[in-house]
Amino acid sequence: DAYTPDGPVAKRIASVTPYFPFKGIPKFYDIGGFLKDPEAFALVVEVLVERYRNEDITSICGLDARGFVLGPPLALALKKPFFMLRKKGKMPNVVTGEAYAKEYAGNDALSIPRGAVSAGDKVLVIDDLVATGGTLLAAIELIKKFDGKIVECACVVELKFLDARGAFDKKGHGDVPIWA
Ligand code: PRP
Ligand code: MG
Repeated sequence: DAYTPDGPVAKRIASVTPYFPFKGIPKFYDIGGFLKDPEAFALVVEVLVERYRNEDITSICGLDARGFVLGPPLALALKKPFFMLRKKGKMPNVVTGEAYAKEYAGNDALSIPRGAVSAGDKVLVIDDLVATGGTLLAAIELIKKFDGKIVECACVVELKFLDARGAFDKKGHGDVPIWA
């Protein structure tokens, strides 16, 4: 119930700023709405912990920047290693993937620390929101480059009309589930 449109989490996420970052974007989904409410934040972490408690997971990967807020509490609760995929230029000793286009904010590229993923690892990917799926796809490609398997991509918000699932199919990653 926490995630239903009238549930406590959804209500708090709906603290949207109109027209940010520019006109034409009607809603900006800001997870700050539930982060400032410890009960709602705990609920989000609890829902994630319950979903993955009995899953076979090697490590948890958070995506720069807002995946860094949700990934660590989950990694601590599940007692799994956490690693960051950062926007390029932020970390040494990394492999940087292809540039990707985001919903509205231009291009970016993600970097993965060398050694973060080994062949056969089962990685859970966490981000706050999935829009076009470009960010998640960049993460998937980096993890697969090191022969890791993606258990699932978990996000709190999905902008369904942007059809990230279709984008996964088109890029040949239709096997990777999104849970949002
Ligand atoms: C936002 C959001 C997701 C991504 C989703 O990140 O946090 O990571 O866009 O869009 P997509 O599915 O079209 O790729 P952004 O890079 O804008 O900012 P952040 O660094 O604050 O997370
Ligand atoms: Mg982001």
